[in-house]
Amino acid sequence: MSTQAGSKSAVPHVLDIRDLCVRFRTKRGIADALDHVSLSIPKSASVGLVGESGCGKSTLMKAAIDVLAENAEVTAGSVYYHDLDLLAAPAETVRQKRWAGISMITQSALNALNPVKKVGDQIVEAIRAHRNMSRKDAWARAEEMLQLVGVDPKRAREYPHQFSGGMRQRAIIAMSLVLSPDLVLADEPTTSLDVIVQDQIFRKIRSLQEELGFSLLLVTHDLGVVIENCDRIAVMYAGQVVEEGPVDQVVNTPFHPYTLGLKNSLPRIDAVSEPIAIPGGPPDPIEMPKGCRFAPRCPFAQDACRQTKPELVSVGAGHRAACIRQAEIPGLRAEAAKIGTWAKVAVKSEEVVE
Ligand SMILES: Nc1ncnc2c1ncn2[C@@H]1O[C@H](COP(=O)(O)OP(=O)(O)OP(=O)(O)O)[C@@H](O)[C@H]1O
Ligand code: SF4
Ligand SMILES: [Mg+2]
Repeated sequence: MSTQAGSKSAVPHVLDIRDLCVRFRTKRGIADALDHVSLSIPKSASVGLVGESGCGKSTLMKAAIDVLAENAEVTAGSVYYHDLDLLAAPAETVRQKRWAGISMITQSALNALNPVKKVGDQIVEAIRAHRNMSRKDAWARAEEMLQLVGVDPKRAREYPHQFSGGMRQRAIIAMSLVLSPDLVLADEPTTSLDVIVQDQIFRKIRSLQEELGFSLLLVTHDLGVVIENCDRIAVMYAGQVVEEGPVDQVVNTPFHPYTLGLKNSLPRIDAVSEPIAIPGGPPDPIEMPKGCRFAPRCPFAQDACRQTKPELVSVGAGHRAACIRQAEIPGLRAEAAKIGTWAKVAVKSEEVVE
């Protein structure tokens, strides 16, 4: 997925983010939201981006479509959509790529529809903002897209409040695909839907991806969703990518203790033991720890971890991790699956608080 900064990979990438650093100016100080993040999305692939709340997933996604908040500052790095550096290109060029090339389904998608306009009209407007198409043809295209996402096209004449949550989300997906983008950024696209509808929506996105061939960056808190739906995964912690690679490799043989901790949150195969949570929470982005940012919560932390920033290094084919003890991790995986290992961290962090 990632390429080394400065070199072009042989794999064609639709999106190639290199060494991206983003900060936010806040009243309390500078929040370090993204620290040298590199992430690439190969053509037609689906990449899952996971990590706890506040680790920078949405910031990364917004940077990729150049819609960061006013108080954000990109201090380093580049974001290539094909051969176009979105951060250096003129605003109008970037605007043309939005929706037609890169579309985004946001966390608040359920509020993204205008309540006083018919769903079909909203899709027609999205088409006509970018394409020189008659209203009649655009309406036909809107109906075609609704059909494709599993909504009866006759319902195009209804208002959003007449749709269920799942149908509204399907309408948003129809809108995001109507201009045939080749990259879809989906930020928690099923938040607030019940589990069965979530599953249906993911199945639909997957079948559409097979049919239409777009690449997908899927942000979620849920490792299970990535296992079901993605080819590759990037694990973020405190504004950094700490592990990335093919989903099966990263999930079956993780090399970063944070990934090991996330894996413990999955329902256990033995169905007897409870999922284990990682004690504590991510660091304050205004005061990031020196060295490894996961050290305060890591059961395997040593003094060296608090001094040296771990670099992402290769740990297998197309698989990288950023842990200075990565060579020892295979011998520590069994320990990481035990609740007692993490309980010791919880006790230690309480001692620090006292
Ligand atoms: N506009 C902003 N101003 C100040 N800080 C911000 C702003 N947007 C995000 N942040 C901070 O940047 C960090 C990353 O936030 P981001 O929203 O990218 O996280 P996330 O991984 O998407 O979290 P979640 O899972 O809750 O959506 C957090 O510490 C957040 O508080
Ligand atoms: S570098 Fe050290 S603290 Fe960080 S994840 Fe690896 S073992 Fe844990
Ligand atoms: Mg987010």
